[in-house]
Amino acid sequence: MHRMTPYALLTLLLLVGCHSGNTMDTLVGQSDLTQSILEVYGRITWWSVFLFILVQGLLIYAVLRFKVNGRTDEIPEQVHGHQTMEIVWTILPVFILIHIAVPTVQIIFDSQSPGKPDALVINSVGEQWWFSFDYPGLGVTTANEVHVPLGREVVIRLQSDNVIHSFWVPQITAKRDMVPGRVNQIKFTADKTGTYLGQCAEYCGDSHALMRFRMVVDTPEDFEKWVKAQAAPAVSEGPTAEAGFAAFQSAGCVTCHSIRGTSAMGVLGPDLTHVGSRQTIAAGIMDNTAENLTKWILDPADVKPGSKMTDLYPEDQEAQKMEQVKSIVAYLQSLK
Ligand code: CUA
Repeated sequence: MHRMTPYALLTLLLLVGCHSGNTMDTLVGQSDLTQSILEVYGRITWWSVFLFILVQGLLIYAVLRFKVNGRTDEIPEQVHGHQTMEIVWTILPVFILIHIAVPTVQIIFDSQSPGKPDALVINSVGEQWWFSFDYPGLGVTTANEVHVPLGREVVIRLQSDNVIHSFWVPQITAKRDMVPGRVNQIKFTADKTGTYLGQCAEYCGDSHALMRFRMVVDTPEDFEKWVKAQAAPAVSEGPTAEAGFAAFQSAGCVTCHSIRGTSAMGVLGPDLTHVGSRQTIAAGIMDNTAENLTKWILDPADVKPGSKMTDLYPEDQEAQKMEQVKSIVAYLQSLK
C-alpha cells in the first residue's frame, strides 16, 4: 500500500463524516429517546476528558518532580501503600460508573415500557432483507418506509420470523434487536419533521448491508392524510392499469405480493398497495424510479444478492419480455 493511502483514506472518512444533511448522524438526536442517549454520551465524554487530564497531569508532575537530576547514585525515598489514595481511587471509579450506569439502565427500561394509552402502535417484522410495517386498527400495511406523527408517542413492536435483525434509526431510536419468537419494543416521541435513514444493525445474511428503510416524521395533519391515503385500496384504472395488472399477474408477482383492492394477496414479499408513493424501492437501496424498478425486476439477484425476489426473466428472454416489464413498472408507479 502506498504510504499516503491511509492518510488519504482517513481524510476521506472525516470529509464523509462532515457531509451536511447526513441523517445517520448519531450526534444529532431528533427524539426524546435519542436526546436522553446523547445526555449519557455527554457524561461519558466529560468523565473521559476529566480522567485524561488528571492522569496525564499526574504523569507530567511525576516526571518533572522525580527526575534523576544527575544524582544517579542516590536512591529516592521508598514508600509502600497510601491509605487515602487507595480510598480515593476506589471510590471515584465507583461513583463515575454509577453516574453513567443509572441513566443508561433507566433509558433502556423506559424505552421498552408500555406506552401511554394514546400512543401510536406499529408492528414491524424484520424479513430477509426488508422491513414490514403494519398499523393495527388503521388498516395500513406498508414496507421499508414508516411514517410517524410529530410530537406523539410511538411504540414500535419488533419481531422477526427468520433470523435476528436489529432496528435502528440513529437520529430517532436506539438500536433494538428483532428476535424470532419474542416481541421487543421501542418507544419514542419524534420532535422534528423530516426523513430519517434506518438500517438493520445486526448481521443477518448476504444482503444485511442492503436492509435499509426510511422513517418519515410528519406533522399530525400530514400524518392523518398519509394514513387515509395508505388505508385506501389501490386505485389505478384505465387500459394501462389493466394491462399492467394482467402482466403483474401472468409474471407470477401475485404469488408473493399483495395489492389491496385487487386479487393479488401474496404475503411473502412487501405489500405493494401504494408502492408508487414510496421514496425508495428494494428496502431503501434505490430511488423509486422507472429505471431502477426495471433493473430490480429484471435482475433481483444482481441488485440484492440472496434475495427471495425471483428472477422471472432468464437472460435470453429479457428482450422479448421487455414490453411486459414496462407495463408492470408503469402500473406499480401508478399505485400512489
Ligand atoms: Cu437484517 Cu441485518
